[in-house]
Amino acid sequence: MTFSRTLKIAPSILSADFANFGQEIEAVEAQGADWIHVDVMDGHFVPNLTFGPPLVKAIRPHIKTVMDVHLMIAPVDPYIDAFADAGADVITAHVEAGPHIHRTLQAIRAAGCKAGVALNPGTPAETVDYLLDMVDLICVMTVNPGFGGQKFIESQVEKVRRLRAMIGDRPIHIEIDGGITPQTAPLMRAAGADVLVAGSAVFKGGSVKDPAPYGENIRAIRTACDTLV
Ligand code: DX5
Ligand code: ZN
Repeated sequence: MTFSRTLKIAPSILSADFANFGQEIEAVEAQGADWIHVDVMDGHFVPNLTFGPPLVKAIRPHIKTVMDVHLMIAPVDPYIDAFADAGADVITAHVEAGPHIHRTLQAIRAAGCKAGVALNPGTPAETVDYLLDMVDLICVMTVNPGFGGQKFIESQVEKVRRLRAMIGDRPIHIEIDGGITPQTAPLMRAAGADVLVAGSAVFKGGSVKDPAPYGENIRAIRTACDTLV
């Protein structure tokens, strides 16, 4: 993974067919996905449950791009090695998920993965002030984590602008997660984001048997960002 601030669209498999992850991932990559975003939920840190390390390991061979694992779990530290062993390229943990985010990020890098930190909508940008030398990605949640298909929270545009200024020349990705559409994506791209997670906006209207809409949906987000004034 070489660092760059070029735009990356990361479809979230939370909106894919859960009975068919392998083919869904292959379809969405063939249609132009840059990264694959994998949402892990524990029914405790967030009010929804998805899957754990065995599933993540099972889908790894189907991913040719980057496996971006978003952990919405508490505690997180006991599971880091399992997700690293499952083949994660990036592991992102929430600052709100425990008292020791610094230790968590150290553990993610020690496990050989890129370290991401996620901020809920109510968490200020300044929370990452003393973490900037140890993160590879900052994920700004633009919905409250737990479910796909929620409405974009506009106040987070300002947070991204602030984070972009704080980051300066450091090789840190800014990722946006939640409510990304061709309408909201350009706001975040202009504010300084380079990774846009999109679940419902990518998977709507398509299927593994008819994957062309995935490509159209990805291109619609990309084009909206490219035509920024
Ligand atoms: C929400 C997840 C997101 C979600 C985004 O908790 O972290 O990745 O899948 O879904 P959309 O793009 O539908 O808001
Ligand atoms: Zn996510």
